[in-house]
Amino acid sequence: MRIKSIRRTLLSGDRWIHAKLGYAIKPVPAKTSFYRTDYDHSLGFRFEKEANEYIKQVRNNTMLPYIRLVTLYQQVVHCEQSGVSGSFVECGVWKGGSVGLMALANLRNGTARRHIHLFDAFDDICEPDRVLDGDAVVKECGKSGRAADRR
Ligand SMILES: C[S@@+](CC[C@H](N)C(=O)[O-])C[C@H]1O[C@@H](n2cnc3c(N)ncnc32)[C@H](O)[C@@H]1O
Repeated sequence: MRIKSIRRTLLSGDRWIHAKLGYAIKPVPAKTSFYRTDYDHSLGFRFEKEANEYIKQVRNNTMLPYIRLVTLYQQVVHCEQSGVSGSFVECGVWKGGSVGLMALANLRNGTARRHIHLFDAFDDICEPDRVLDGDAVVKECGKSGRAADRR
């Protein structure tokens, strides 16, 4: 009983802070999972209709679930509309779906094409090297059984 009331108080405080910041918390239908991997919803995100148009084009080449794609699209639109300059970088592109969405968002919303830099192992990821990566990385990977100390 007491825990419930503390939780209620915290939640209402949270709503108050969000309202002060100009955000409204809207209920999401109970069946909605943000991590679902089917696409083409209308969950009420800004630019969602536009994002859906492009998500259709990239969805066979991405591992990202719907929510990640829509919010990625929003981040690019934010950069374009707020005059954030520079290149886009994706570390871990796999088949290029998410970075493809970034490029499409840039073309639709930007005034110029951005440079986009893509990084990936495009192969099995090699074991860390003590000289190149340092002791800490070798030690950290060793914990999960991934590292082989080659020296
Ligand atoms: C989850 S997938 C990327 C998903 C992708 N952005 C998409 O749209 O589906 C992670 C990618 O990161 C790459 N990767 C992970 N660790 C890496 C590393 N240490 N160096 C280079 N590439 C790495 C993998 O090869 C893989 O392609």
